[in-house]
Amino acid sequence: MKLHHLSALSVLLAAASAVPLEQATTTVSAAAPSSTPTLPAEEIVLTEADVKQYPQLQFGEELSDVEIHNSTVSRRSGRSCKVIPGDRNWPSNGLWSILNFFVGGKLIKPDPIAKVCYAGNTYDEAKCGAITSNWTNSDLHVDHPTSIMSTLYQGMTCLPGDASILGHTCTLGGYPVYVVDAQNARDIQAAVNFARNMNIRLVIKNTGHDFHGKASGFGSLSIRTHALKDIAVIKNYRSKKYTGPAIKAGSGVQGFELYQAASDAGLMVVGGEGMTVGWGGGYIQGGGHSPLSSIHGMAADQVLSYEVVLANGRFVTADADTNPDLFWAMRGGGGSTFGVLVSITVKAFPDVPVTVSTFTFDPSAADVAKYALADTSNDDFWAVVKEYFSQFATHAGQGIYSYFNIFPSAVAGSQTFTMIPFFAPNKTAAEVDALLASTVAKAKEHNITLVPKTVTYSGFQAAWKAGFPKETIGMWNVQSGSRLFPRENWEDTDKFEMQFNAIREVTMNSYMLGFNIAPTLANGQVTADETAVLPAWRETLMHAITGTMWDASIRDLSVVRSIQKVFTDGNMKKWRDVSPGSGAYLAECDFNEPDHQTAFWGTNYPKLYQMKQKYDPKGVFFAETAVGSEDWSAGVDRIGRLCPV
Ligand SMILES: Cc1cc2nc3c(=O)[nH]c(=O)nc-3n(C[C@H](O)[C@H](O)[C@H](O)COP(=O)(O)OP(=O)(O)OC[C@H]3O[C@@H](n4cnc5c(N)ncnc54)[C@H](O)[C@@H]3O)c2cc1C
Ligand SMILES: *[C@@H]1O[C@H](CO)[C@@H](O)[C@H](O)[C@H]1NC(C)=O
Ligand SMILES: *[C@@H]1O[C@H](CO)[C@@H](O)[C@H](O)[C@H]1NC(C)=O
Ligand SMILES: *[C@@H]1O[C@H](CO)[C@@H](O)[C@H](O)[C@H]1NC(C)=O
Ligand SMILES: *[C@@H]1O[C@H](CO)[C@@H](O)[C@H](O)[C@H]1NC(C)=O
Repeated sequence: MKLHHLSALSVLLAAASAVPLEQATTTVSAAAPSSTPTLPAEEIVLTEADVKQYPQLQFGEELSDVEIHNSTVSRRSGRSCKVIPGDRNWPSNGLWSILNFFVGGKLIKPDPIAKVCYAGNTYDEAKCGAITSNWTNSDLHVDHPTSIMSTLYQGMTCLPGDASILGHTCTLGGYPVYVVDAQNARDIQAAVNFARNMNIRLVIKNTGHDFHGKASGFGSLSIRTHALKDIAVIKNYRSKKYTGPAIKAGSGVQGFELYQAASDAGLMVVGGEGMTVGWGGGYIQGGGHSPLSSIHGMAADQVLSYEVVLANGRFVTADADTNPDLFWAMRGGGGSTFGVLVSITVKAFPDVPVTVSTFTFDPSAADVAKYALADTSNDDFWAVVKEYFSQFATHAGQGIYSYFNIFPSAVAGSQTFTMIPFFAPNKTAAEVDALLASTVAKAKEHNITLVPKTVTYSGFQAAWKAGFPKETIGMWNVQSGSRLFPRENWEDTDKFEMQFNAIREVTMNSYMLGFNIAPTLANGQVTADETAVLPAWRETLMHAITGTMWDASIRDLSVVRSIQKVFTDGNMKKWRDVSPGSGAYLAECDFNEPDHQTAFWGTNYPKLYQMKQKYDPKGVFFAETAVGSEDWSAGVDRIGRLCPV
């Protein structure tokens, strides 16, 4: 690099880092959306003047609608295989250091998180021990720049544990090569421009919670949004469509942080149940279900505006008036597809007391002999489950969101039902006990012990904290999938029976996580054409997940593929068969879902595909199963070079 470039860049760097990075919560009063606060991270942007001398960082072409109506043309134009390390066109160290200057020194080249477990100069027994013992703790992976929670999808490389015993190897696998640890819009713009101009695969990581590792990618440059933590509470937001409290938050804000800020202001917001799951990245763009969904709809329904860096590097607003088609697409279309979110403004609601009930039932100690010897079909247990299921329309109609699981119990051939929480916003303990009364009575009738523990909390945040424990993640020998079960299955006795039998059959040879939930259009206060959320969500009474597991020592990905196929064509098919025309939740899906475009987006898919051509004609953004991903392939195991197909 020439010396004068270096000194010019040093000045830029100094200017960028002189701006303090405040991540405080501010409260403002906004009379109109135009006075919606600009978050500190949005004040630092990339300009034409900044990049004038640097071809690698030039902005892309302005948007054009010309080709979006002919996908044959746009699909093929200007796309070639992405450049990977070792290629002649992979940027030199000098070019990477230009990017590093533009992002304020925040370009990093991280080792895989468990590399410290492997022989070499980074080996560290103590660190390896801590990583290994904490592997299933989501914070470990959130805090690392490249780690993801579904380890299978980086190719099972660099697994934790004693490498000399387990015989693992440690290569970069599907982990990104470089990461921009973004602090502001400018960092994101620079990274997008660089990746596009250099034809490098670009990925975005927020928390890394995605079930299919969509926050990683072989040979890629990653933009990490975790540091974008600004939050502003807007007491009285006003637009044509909505007047009331709102919150604007950086895309790195997680649910628990948002809940704290809202609670401090006497408010609550629609976010996930998971303790560490992201809010402003894959979650909200993919739809987002929430403990508040049965009263307020999906998370995507709440969005008032997005601030986004597009594939051409421009930093734009998407709301009902500005770029409305982009706004629509990013409300349910999924992450890593149309742009990089910098911030989100959402509706907030006055806080309410919430009652939480938990209970568990299975063959009690006294029943063990009976279950082991006589009742291998477990009919008593399933009679109670069935009674509970029969209440779903009533419960969801009362604003309930319940999250329960059914796993094999200690008694061979039988199950345990655990109500993680029965979450009842604005309901008293007496009201909740009444809603659960028929299930409790049915248990009594079948000599099964079922005693709900019901507690009322003063607000949403306290109830959420008490109700949803931190989940276990990080396994590489599990694959899950989900199904949305439609309301019509509750309205027709035969359909209810068939659905129940399919659920029982699958659960008895596997397990299930279930959510009784009703994110209807009315609850979301949206019309059918306002969001890209899968229409089937609006008719859903239960979202359920099941999965398949295999021996954790299996390393042969072709063996894993065949196990996954049995799952897709077996248990998942049983669930699909009893819910024809419904769909699956894209953020908790089986990535081998047949005709996934229809299953994840239904009738919204053709328009979403057009939006992808319009906003990202060159394919800068990609994630497996995302809108437009059928135009690309990273190989059969999804960890190779990304090429157009
Ligand atoms: C323990 C656990 C609990 C969960 N609980 C819920 C729940 O209650 N409700 C629910 O609906 N889902 C839940 N999920 C699923 C969750 O919605 C998805 O895993 C989601 O993809 C997480 O988004 P993230 O941004 O945190 O994760 P990441 O893995 O970091 O990202 C997911 C996808 O979004 C993209 N992305 C991330 N940030 C941005 C951005 N700023 N701009 C554009 N694209 C971006 C990524 O590239 C990736 O493709 C849960 C998952 C887990 C593992
Ligand atoms: C789309 O483009 C292809 C290739 O140029 C062309 O053959 C086809 O007629 C076009 N389709 C439409 C609807 O314009
Ligand atoms: C890792 O585990 C150790 C003890 O085993 C604990 O002290 C530490 O807080 C854990 N770290 C994380 C990130 O969970
Ligand atoms: C809470 O419940 C009360 C009594 O049923 C009702 O009057 C009130 O409108 C509810 N509040 C909200 C915010 O739903
Ligand atoms: C419950 O227990 C009582 C008393 O032991 C017994 O008479 C009855 O048959 C049992 N009911 C069921 C459904 O097993």
